[in-house]
Amino acid sequence: MQFKTALLSLLAAVASAAPSGKSCPAPVRKFGIMALRSASDIHFARVSATQSHMVLHLEEGKADAQCEDGSSGEDGAIFYIKNEELFLYGKDTKQQFFVDRSGMGLGVMQYFNSTGGPIGGRLELKGWAIDENDKLTFNGHDLIACPNSVLNGWSVWVYVGSDKPAGQEGCLGFSARAVTVTDPVKCDYSIYTY
Ligand SMILES: *[C@@H]1O[C@H](CO)[C@@H](O)[C@H](O)[C@H]1NC(C)=O
Repeated sequence: MQFKTALLSLLAAVASAAPSGKSCPAPVRKFGIMALRSASDIHFARVSATQSHMVLHLEEGKADAQCEDGSSGEDGAIFYIKNEELFLYGKDTKQQFFVDRSGMGLGVMQYFNSTGGPIGGRLELKGWAIDENDKLTFNGHDLIACPNSVLNGWSVWVYVGSDKPAGQEGCLGFSARAVTVTDPVKCDYSIYTY
């Protein structure tokens, strides 16, 4: 009897806690990324996406995204986070980032055409967050950029402790600042072909 009473009051509590209005979920924030590293070549550099990579200081004329307004993503890439996973704001294809923090990957990060299926062992999807100062991190890690002639800019990695990830020279760690884009344009970004 006592149990039944407890159960009934529990059910009543659940019912009263249930949302009553028809409120829509808040739209997911779309943002660009700006690098902050004072007194350096990459301070205020914006993040582009090309050839499966985040790139700072992408050379003029090298943006190669296919955007719904006909542009190529030359103003930088647009991102969103869902369930701690980082996506590009896409048109036809769902493109998202994986990170490899292992001794093999050393913080390498790339986007790929996602089918939503599982992804291989060392590769992580979850852990992206933006704090109250608009700083973007991956599982608490900052990012680092290294000059990369193949990518025509500075390729961005997750900083996992080495200033020379995979032996790269001239890298600079930076704080990634998320900047809200109020009128985002959907783009499909190029995938690196080996
Ligand atoms: C990934 O998606 C892009 C954009 O739709 C497409 O151009 C490209 O061919 C796809 N690449 C692969 C490897 O599936």
